[in-house]
Amino acid sequence: MQLTRRGFLGRCAIAGASLRQAAAGGEIALEARPATGRIAGLGVEFWGYNGQMPGPVLEAVPGETLAIRFRNALPEATNLHFHGMHVSPSGNADNPFLEIPPGEELLYEVPVPEGHPAGTFWYHPHMHGTTARQVFRGLSGVLIVRGELDAIPEVAQAPEHILVLKDFSIGRDGRIPEATMAERMQGREGSLLTINGLLRPAVPIAQNGLVRLRIVNASSSRYYRLKIDEHPLALIALDGGALPAVRWADEWLLAPGQRIDVLVAGARPPGEYRIVSLPYNRGSMGMGAPALAENTLATLRYEGSAQAVPVPDQLLPVEPLPEANAQRTFVLSESMMASFLINGRSFSMDRTDTQVLLGSVEEWSIENRGTMDHPFHVHVNPFQQMLDGAPERAWRDIINVPRGATRRIRIAFPDFPGRTVYHCHILDHEDLGMMGTLEIVPG
Ligand code: C2O
Ligand code: CU
Ligand code: CU
Repeated sequence: MQLTRRGFLGRCAIAGASLRQAAAGGEIALEARPATGRIAGLGVEFWGYNGQMPGPVLEAVPGETLAIRFRNALPEATNLHFHGMHVSPSGNADNPFLEIPPGEELLYEVPVPEGHPAGTFWYHPHMHGTTARQVFRGLSGVLIVRGELDAIPEVAQAPEHILVLKDFSIGRDGRIPEATMAERMQGREGSLLTINGLLRPAVPIAQNGLVRLRIVNASSSRYYRLKIDEHPLALIALDGGALPAVRWADEWLLAPGQRIDVLVAGARPPGEYRIVSLPYNRGSMGMGAPALAENTLATLRYEGSAQAVPVPDQLLPVEPLPEANAQRTFVLSESMMASFLINGRSFSMDRTDTQVLLGSVEEWSIENRGTMDHPFHVHVNPFQQMLDGAPERAWRDIINVPRGATRRIRIAFPDFPGRTVYHCHILDHEDLGMMGTLEIVPG
């Protein structure tokens, strides 16, 4: 499939212009609906936003309100979550407790605060019990906040490509089958690995030039250990926005829900280089363990040449969070009988599991006593990972907690009172109970 032949320049996506829909100050119409179209080159019945997989790219700038007229044309209830955004969890904003019945409409109004970091976020359904199947069938889209990071000259010059990593399984009848209970317990992975719904697309790069890749793991359960042949990754942002300085890496593990922004330099002889996912063992409950294989996801293809642009060293300062006022422990465990627990409890929407004070800073220990890795995610407020007792200068909203390991994070609750959730971002696990409620209360 020749994606790059149309010659989009500058800020474009490898799937073409239709992917982008700027908010343009007005309302965005978004409809979740069943659709028929091509995924991985096959005719497939899937679920998409506005009939697309991935959905339209939404863009916002700090200080603006995202107004989304959302319609549910699915045969079941759904809602929207704005993953990674530091926005209100209440009312018609980033509220995971809303439920929009089939055939109904809701106007989402999400004010994006002044000072919201620029970054790569995403939106997806958040209906407890059916989130994994809705996402697995194709419901997800990218939400970009533009700001300071995008204004750094070397970053601004780099043509930008969005890569949405999503696995599918597609039956002979062109339908996406339901997951079995064993697949759900493991976290279902599909064997067709797509980027923007395409099999092995080519990402263009000019010799000597830089490209910026915004990479989103929108898979419901699959991990990607990303590497580009002969091209080191210059990370400029993690989940929640810019790093203080470029971080060089040969490979990077992207758990479900995580994002990275990377710069890649066209510093090799012109040709085609593979973008691969290396094998990663995330553990299993003993049955239906996914195969450990290396997969080619895409190619980096040299086209033309450009003036050499250096990779910038300094990006944007990240202030470490101050000392915590409170400590808490979250124990993740799996039990037979298909239940996935946090502190021994399975999710219940009406119970408040964790209450924190507005304006406080806390340190959380997340202890994984299970047999699988669990990527722990918190809504609304990003966090800093504690490394050797000091906060990492990076904003994340998901931290992978390997089986048997403990990870510590520091998290602040500066604004936004209300009720929200934290959970495992293997969405099958979330649906099977590995989620808790978090209430942020004024002191
Ligand atoms: Cu992307 Cu509550 O999740
Ligand atoms: Cu989220
Ligand atoms: Cu999990």
